[in-house]
Amino acid sequence: MDTTTAIARFDEVRADTERLAAPLSPEDQTVQSMPDVSPTKWHRAHVTWFFETFVLAENEPGFTPFQDTYWFLFNSYYEQVGPRYARPMRGVISRPGAYEVGDYRRNIDDRIRDLLDRVDEGAFAKLAPTIELGFHHEQQHQELLLMDIKHVLSLNPLQPTYAGGPVAGAGTDRLGWVDFDGGLVEIGSADGGEGGGFCFDNELPRHQQWLEPYRLADRLITNGEWLEFMADGGYRRPELWLSDGWGRVNAEGWDAPFYWRELDGEWFEHTLHGTAPLDPGLPVCHLSHYEADAYATWAGKRLPTEAEWEHAARAYEVVGNLADRDSFHPRAAGPATDGLRQLFGDCWEWTSSAYLPYPGFHPAAGAIGEYNGKFMSSQMVLRGGCALTPPGHTRASYRNFFPPGARWPVTGLRLADDGRRA
Ligand SMILES: [Fe+2]
Repeated sequence: MDTTTAIARFDEVRADTERLAAPLSPEDQTVQSMPDVSPTKWHRAHVTWFFETFVLAENEPGFTPFQDTYWFLFNSYYEQVGPRYARPMRGVISRPGAYEVGDYRRNIDDRIRDLLDRVDEGAFAKLAPTIELGFHHEQQHQELLLMDIKHVLSLNPLQPTYAGGPVAGAGTDRLGWVDFDGGLVEIGSADGGEGGGFCFDNELPRHQQWLEPYRLADRLITNGEWLEFMADGGYRRPELWLSDGWGRVNAEGWDAPFYWRELDGEWFEHTLHGTAPLDPGLPVCHLSHYEADAYATWAGKRLPTEAEWEHAARAYEVVGNLADRDSFHPRAAGPATDGLRQLFGDCWEWTSSAYLPYPGFHPAAGAIGEYNGKFMSSQMVLRGGCALTPPGHTRASYRNFFPPGARWPVTGLRLADDGRRA
């Protein structure tokens, strides 16, 4: 990457965020509907703060912050940067408003472009990894912005629409299986520090893992299949559930996926393009890890490990129903092939793997080292991307992670099974 490429990429990523926020009024952008959700304008400001704090403050001659207290408001979780405003209270911050956040963004945009224009080759080589991390960080927040506004709008009885349109209806086709021999395989990014492609630190180091023979379902589980699980008492049978999951079923009254609503015996689903009758042929989404695991148990199968998923996915091109399709919702799998369908896009796929450091993982020194490593506790890995993931933001080695009870992300499931030794 040279400075011209960096400026072009910077402009593109920054414009994408503003394009996603554009359909939302300042009032929409202010609401925080639960502690896990952040207001749209907070996302827009926080990703700007990231560039201001980690790129400008360390590289801009005579740096002064855009505003004295934004570092306090828009720091997400970086302890080494300093104290920050309480996350669950982000929705009560009415000022700066959405337009003032726009002013903040434009100011930092101009200053980043100026810096990149003027910087010499040696200094650029030093800041390039951080600015590239800033691009991918902003893309992560683009996905979160959409997941979060989906929840905000779901609580409004007017059933407002964000964007997109209904996706094509579909029947559920027969679930196929693809066999893998396993053996000694390599897991983790092959690009980090080698091929020049970007990866997060948690995708490194590349290392060997032993896999027993296994099988993966050739597509995601559908709404229609989920209805069968429900009809068979799926949410009422403790023997199907992990203990923590059964606790949540009872404590929170789970009886269907997160955005499903039953009206006069018919199921409807909240989507970013409004509330729609449930389509049995579309992938089931907004499941917790506990629900995905219970379904797999009910089906006599299991969830894939992240190594099984990654080993299988390496053979496939990273194409799918991502956030460039403008439907902003998972789509049907399409015609069967002799391979795996829906690997990238549609729904993040829960794995049975706890989010842990790979052997030899070392977070970077300083505050930026807090990006991933400190979350390697009490979370499960998801793979593949979803219909809200920006194109170019996922890959076979990408490790997403959420707590096992999270239901507001766009999460689904692919079954796995043990294979037979040849
Ligand atoms: Fe962030």
